[in-house]
Amino acid sequence: NLPNRVRIVEVGPRDGLQNEAQMIPTDQKTTLIEGLVQAGVSHVEVGSFVSPKWVPQMANSAEVLAGLSKQPGKTYAALTPNLKGLELALEAGASEVAVFGAASETFSQKNINCSVADSLARFDAVMALAQREHIKVRGYVSCVMGCPYEGDVPVEQVARVSQTLLDMGCYEISLGDTVGVGTPLQTQRLIEHLTQYVPVSQLAAHFHDTYGQALANIFAVLQMGVSVVDTSIAGLGGCPYAQGASGNLATEDVVYMLNGLGIDTGIDLKQLMALSNQFCHDNHLVQRSKVSLAG
Ligand code: HMG
Ligand code: MG
Repeated sequence: NLPNRVRIVEVGPRDGLQNEAQMIPTDQKTTLIEGLVQAGVSHVEVGSFVSPKWVPQMANSAEVLAGLSKQPGKTYAALTPNLKGLELALEAGASEVAVFGAASETFSQKNINCSVADSLARFDAVMALAQREHIKVRGYVSCVMGCPYEGDVPVEQVARVSQTLLDMGCYEISLGDTVGVGTPLQTQRLIEHLTQYVPVSQLAAHFHDTYGQALANIFAVLQMGVSVVDTSIAGLGGCPYAQGASGNLATEDVVYMLNGLGIDTGIDLKQLMALSNQFCHDNHLVQRSKVSLAG
């Protein structure tokens, strides 16, 4: 029941680098993003238009977008928490944006300084402008398998926020296991529940690897028809508002598994590993991809 093809959404330049202690210079980010696209990645999240006081690492996102030589048909996406973020993203030339909500009240407060209901109202305004500008909007839901502050999160809450984002016009819902606490059966039960409301073709897996479960959980959702997976080159990152969180699963490790399953990604693994090792070396970052370490 596995998909023939998986779309990798590379979130390393955003989710990865937002949580690295040091600031990565604009030219290093553009080199990374251009290298990712050259290796066959079709969708890269290049940065976010959020408050630089909250996430200083993303403050150069407009410069990053301006510095890229963009390839036709590729997606250069950015996070936009509110109307101001979308206006800045449009001005900077992002080709797609994402709003990010949560299935947990406390996480919503800590991450974007408002309740879940208020965040959805803000996203309404974002959606309206995005639609006028003909720009696609992806929707994230954080804490789908647990919250760093509240613990267990009921699947009903995940379904409610996911469906609202879809009804607003998001073309895809990316399910964030923000703290990486989920296990494969729990993950499958979540998908089983959500697909009563959201078609599986509109779901994406965004799993952090804090507890070492992400690869198993990705394999679990592939078997249920999920065919979009968010990954981070070199396993960079975490989340500044989720203590102890590690990055998304390394892109190389996921592509290696998908290659072994005979699932096409369009990505050249060797090129990806070379890029990953070079970027970590040049920026003194820890290589967390097992495949890139082994290769
Ligand atoms: P706030 O303080 O409530 O906002 O923050 P505000 O509207 O009251 O504005 C306060 C200041 O921020 C003002 O500036 C605004 O202009 C400015 P001041 O007058 O003080 O100089 N501001 C902005 N600046 C730039 N871009 C903007 C923007 N909006 C307001 N878009 C806000 C609310 C959402 C802005 C804030 O809480 C924030 O930036 N949070 C950062 C959230 C973030 O980036 N988190 C990490 C990404 S989410 C994630 O990692 C999870 C995910 O990967 C999925 C998963 O793993 O679960 C997606
Ligand atoms: Mg994340």
